[in-house]
Amino acid sequence: MKFKALIVSETDSKRFTREISEKSIDDLPKGEVLVRVNYSSLNYKDALSAHGHKGVTKRYPHTPGIDAAGVIEESTSDEFQPGDEVIVTSYDLGVNTPGGFGQFIRVPANWVVKRPDTLTLKESMTYGTAGFTAALSVFKMEQAGVLPGQGLILVTGASGGVGSIAVAILSKSGYHVVAASGKTEEKQFLMDLGAQEVIHRDVVKDTSGWPLIKMKWAGVIDTVGGDILATAIKSTKFGGTVTCCGNAASPELPITVFPFILRGVSLIGIDSANCPMDVRLKIWDRIAHEWKIENLDYLTNEISLEELEQNIDLILKGKLKGRTVVNLMR
Ligand SMILES: NC(=O)c1ccc[n+]([C@@H]2O[C@H](COP(=O)([O-])OP(=O)(O)OC[C@H]3O[C@@H](n4cnc5c(N)ncnc54)[C@H](OP(=O)(O)O)[C@@H]3O)[C@@H](O)[C@H]2O)c1
Repeated sequence: MKFKALIVSETDSKRFTREISEKSIDDLPKGEVLVRVNYSSLNYKDALSAHGHKGVTKRYPHTPGIDAAGVIEESTSDEFQPGDEVIVTSYDLGVNTPGGFGQFIRVPANWVVKRPDTLTLKESMTYGTAGFTAALSVFKMEQAGVLPGQGLILVTGASGGVGSIAVAILSKSGYHVVAASGKTEEKQFLMDLGAQEVIHRDVVKDTSGWPLIKMKWAGVIDTVGGDILATAIKSTKFGGTVTCCGNAASPELPITVFPFILRGVSLIGIDSANCPMDVRLKIWDRIAHEWKIENLDYLTNEISLEELEQNIDLILKGKLKGRTVVNLMR
């Protein structure tokens, strides 16, 4: 059987081309579960894979898409039956395994999560890896002892996928959220998601070279890295926690040890791809219940496979806001 997918190919001149084309189910890798994909979503990592970033995807031709939600077509696992609605995010999906930007995926059963009753397949992809990562960051911060009422929580890259969902979850949980964004025009969007204050990202970018600056934050959810992450760490209060999941600004971290040894600040790395299944299920459960965002549609833009190209360019330029869900049934 044939199906439609985005195919990224490497040319002889080491350039990368993208086209929507037909693939055969027989070309998919071995695995216990064949899923007919209804929805995927666009993450920053997908855009890197679609542009031939060998740090993400080593082998081309390739179909990116680290997220997929759909219906099981075939299963050799006792845990899943044809007709089950499921979510597959992270592990190797869309990295070196053909991903959710195709109408079918075949994956190991231990990558698959049953769709929680309170989320539709589309809603699960509004969260997708970005939303899961936001939730995992809040979970880790909470585990580290940063609770509502203890002070301001800074979210950087706030209008992006991880950032916007972090703002909404934190606000729903009762935290006082300060959203830092480069998009001044999106102030109302961020306030509507629950930010109490919206500041320009330049305000949280200190390049003075001081190892410590005035304390402001009880906690920080950082999605951008670089000077902004370094500034956030240098301005976190005694015993506060900073989570770090991304490098949209830079992979560098220009910092000294002083925030850690003089203020007891903790820096927690977030890796959603290798999150163990027991924690993964706990996080999806919280996403589907106490952290379920009421106005999910407000932060969702639905596109078709054909509309991916322009959105891939926009996400790489940091110009997308909220979450972009890809409808594979169109
Ligand atoms: N570790 C993990 O498990 C994991 C999982 C998911 C994502 N990530 C990473 O997290 C990051 C965010 O992912 P995403 O899907 O949310 O991407 P996204 O939707 O593109 O959001 C990134 C946001 O960062 C800000 N930004 C972009 N370029 C910037 C720059 N040069 N300087 C400062 N801020 C900049 C922009 O927000 P504003 O305009 O509002 O400032 C942008 O919307 C990426 O690096 C991604 O690879 C990691």
